[in-house]
Amino acid sequence: MDTGMDDALALIYLTSRPDVELSAVTCVNGCVDVDAVARNTTGVLAALDRRDILVGKGSDRPLTSGGPGAQWVFGPTGLGDVRLPEAAVPGDLPPALDVMRRVLARPGPRTTLVCTGPLTNVALLLRAHPEAARQVAAVYVMGGSAAAGGNETPAAEFNILQDPEAADIVLRSGLPVVMYGLDVFTRVTATDADIAALDASGRPGAVLAGRILRELAARFATRGAFLGDAGVAVVATERRLAELRRLKVAVELRGGYTRGATVVDRRVTRPPHGDHADDWPYAEIVWDLDATGVAAQFVR
Ligand code: BDR
Ligand code: CA
Repeated sequence: MDTGMDDALALIYLTSRPDVELSAVTCVNGCVDVDAVARNTTGVLAALDRRDILVGKGSDRPLTSGGPGAQWVFGPTGLGDVRLPEAAVPGDLPPALDVMRRVLARPGPRTTLVCTGPLTNVALLLRAHPEAARQVAAVYVMGGSAAAGGNETPAAEFNILQDPEAADIVLRSGLPVVMYGLDVFTRVTATDADIAALDASGRPGAVLAGRILRELAARFATRGAFLGDAGVAVVATERRLAELRRLKVAVELRGGYTRGATVVDRRVTRPPHGDHADDWPYAEIVWDLDATGVAAQFVR
């Protein structure tokens, strides 16, 4: 995660489900620098009284080059005006790669990665410890888009643009990747009644979620209280709410105008003289989803 207001919502959701074992969170440079991400992540977990969850501090930069961060969206701390308890000092946190290796070395069921920030930590793990991939069940990625274009640039979505090479490594890893792109990301919002229900529950996670959603609604008047990254966490636990299509996806690593864009092969016919996409990896693209159902599941 690059926690981030909507990453915080994803964290609250995953820690609230009794049937999900959240093994660890690793922090990555993204919306804000990795130290701020680590402060936000440990602060959210402290507010939820879940200091038991392992947090690792990951990369403070992209593999080669990325974008300028998203302070302009989420403010200098990454959490707008939301205040959290002080928790672990980011310098005290173990390295993200150690945390991921430790979790993936455990016997038992394989682990699902839910990625709501740039993919730098995952790419570094796959590069340095390819054997760890054997214990990964699937990689859910909030990033890119199939047809919606970009948000950080006209072509590129923020998380992919922050580290296009890392996204390329993950897509080409052979792991099952589910891409939750902007096409669906922007469709899931909470209503005033949803926020009121969260407030009324009195549970610390729900109350914090309500506070964050009100802050998001205030900052993004046109989009409302969007669940953002929480949507990919909901889909990872409730696949029935999404329609997936297995399609080829490539990340533009060069491009005069399009670095960081995800190019999804949506063609229905191919030219007879060749595919032009022979070496492209496949991903399961979240093509459509029950947006109201995702929001309702989050609130529940
Ligand atoms: C992504 O960028 C971040 O600002 C959000 O947290 C989300 O992960 C959307 O492009
Ligand atoms: Ca994020």
